[in-house]
Amino acid sequence: MLKAVYPGSFDPITNGHLYVAERAAALFDELILAVLINPQKRSTFTVEERKTMAREALSHVTNVRVKSFEGLLVDFMRRERCRVIVRGMRALSDFEYEFQMALMNRELAPEIETIFIVTDAQYSYLSSSAVKEVFQFGGSIQGMVPPGVYRRLRERFPPKDLM
Ligand code: PNS
Repeated sequence: MLKAVYPGSFDPITNGHLYVAERAAALFDELILAVLINPQKRSTFTVEERKTMAREALSHVTNVRVKSFEGLLVDFMRRERCRVIVRGMRALSDFEYEFQMALMNRELAPEIETIFIVTDAQYSYLSSSAVKEVFQFGGSIQGMVPPGVYRRLRERFPPKDLM
């Protein structure tokens, strides 16, 4: 069974992430979307919220499982007996960070391969942090996030906070 892990912060999951997850799920028998637990970084949503939003958004894709991990990604990969990391690539600006991470992971675990799925052009400017910023300042994020994420952003940043 060919299995891959799509890791990330997913704080929150965006339509750009969804696009990559759907395409990756079509290539593998099983895709694990792995949400990072990072005690060093203050996230907007808890890991449980991030997992729930990802699960809801990907409920139509039957071969995706959503999990969380803490520590090194390669350790999680080995625990899952998985040798393929999937990452999305938006633009050239992503390349340096992704290249460094892929090489570091290869140094740590040479048996693991990182593959990249190019995002759709319509999502090339999307990121979780940009979506949160635009939303908090009252801009439209129509078409950028799944409905469950939109609902939770409204709860987290109610319009009165904009006053
Ligand atoms: O969505 P992100 O924040 O770009 O995802 C980054 C992620 C989670 C893939 C990366 O930070 C990660 O794998 N963190 C776990 C720690 C680790 O393994 N570090 C070594 C690779 S540089």
